[in-house]
Formats: sequence, C-alpha cells, structure tokens
Amino acid sequence: QFGSVQPKQKSVLEIAIRSHQTSLQLVETLLDVYRNDIDGLKLDRTPIDLARLAESTATSLLALAMSRRVHLSLNYGDSDFRQFLWVNGDALQLQRVFANLLANAINHSPRGAKVEVVLGTQAGDRVVKVMDTGAGIQPDEMPHLFERFYQGQSNRQASGSGLGLYLARQIVEAHEGTIWAENRSPQGAIFGFRLAAIVDPSY
Ligand SMILES: Nc1ncnc2c1ncn2[C@@H]1O[C@H](COP(=O)(O)OP(=O)(O)O)[C@@H](O)[C@H]1O
Ligand SMILES: [Mg+2]
Repeated sequence: QFGSVQPKQKSVLEIAIRSHQTSLQLVETLLDVYRNDIDGLKLDRTPIDLARLAESTATSLLALAMSRRVHLSLNYGDSDFRQFLWVNGDALQLQRVFANLLANAINHSPRGAKVEVVLGTQAGDRVVKVMDTGAGIQPDEMPHLFERFYQGQSNRQASGSGLGLYLARQIVEAHEGTIWAENRSPQGAIFGFRLAAIVDPSY
C-alpha cells in the first residue's frame, strides 16, 4: 500500500513497479520462447471463440491505446453483426498472439489513428487481420519480421525485444495455422493469421 507516501513519490514508485513488470514480462517471454524451441509448444486446446478472445484482448489493451491516442475497432468483414469464430485452440496462447499483434499495431500508429481488427471465415479457416495506418513494412525487412530477436529501426514509440512476432509465429504454427505480414494501401501494415475452423460446439 502507498498509505503514507507523497503523491510525487507515489508516481515514482508506480513507474518503478511498471518498469519492473516490463522486465519480468520480458524475462518470461524469453523463457517461453526458448522452452517452446527446445521442448515444442504444448497446447491446451478447447473450442475457443476467436471473436470473444479478440474483444477481451482489445479491452485489456485499451489503456495502452488511450495513452497513444489510438482508437481500436473490431469488425466482421462486410457484416455489421457479431459472429462466432470457433477454433480448436489454446486460449492463453492465442491471447498472446492477439496481444502482440495489437500492441505492435498501436505502437506503430500515428496519434489519432485507428487500429482495426477484422475477423472472418474463408474457405474453412478463421482469418484475423490486425490493420494499422503506420509506416508499414520495408521490402528488405519483410523476410525477417518473424525471426527471433528481429527488430526494425522504424520510428516506433516503444522499444521491445524482437520476440513478439517470433512467439506469435511459434504459437500459430503449433496450431497448424499460418501467420503473415503485408502492406496496406495507401498506408500501414496488416498482420494476419488463419486457423482451421471448427463448427459451433453447441450444435
Ligand atoms: N504494425 C507494424 N508496423 C510496422 N512494423 C512492424 C509492425 N509490427 C512489427 N513490426 C516490425 O517487426 C519488428 C518485430 O516485431 P516484434 O517481434 O513484435 O518485436 P518488437 O515489437 O519487440 O520490436 C518490429 O521491430 C518492427 O520493425
Ligand atoms: Mg512487438
């Protein structure tokens, strides 16, 4: 508790705690990445609605989005209706994929911009696209984005570890899915992944 601490000290403590949490998260991610490489990623799979997972992950990133003045939106292709996107997946792991892609999109967005998550079903696959209006991807960095420790020297706001996309790829590939990056016209990046669909488990 901060009971008897002055406001100024309180904010210093909050910053120290936050940076400590960031370091711990980084160490955890690093350990996970190596463990996945060595032992293979062990998934705990159940029927998961990717739409609900996208919503809850976006909600947990609202504070980051607000601090960057970035708007988040969730769409279902041409339809205005909420859809269910059932996959046989590991909810905790897939949440990390969403969180990494969304955090990247937010961090690469200009202030006032919108990050869109577009969800849909195509040819028996659930398809997720996280789209931003940032600087996009240079042709020479395209082949390296999903490599371990790769970091571009783009004008980003936060410094990371170069592990986010690598971990996302480990997780998606463990689900027998695919993950990719593309540029968006007129401007911005799209990071997408697709996973085999399953039918609504309540049928
Ligand atoms: N939305 C994006 N727009 C442009 N470049 C991106 C985007 N997301 C990721 N990148 C590029 O891919 C690199 C690797 O991303 P990531 O693995 O998440 O590492 P980190 O975020 O720690 O730099 C980033 O350093 C950046 O160069
Ligand atoms: Mg990242």
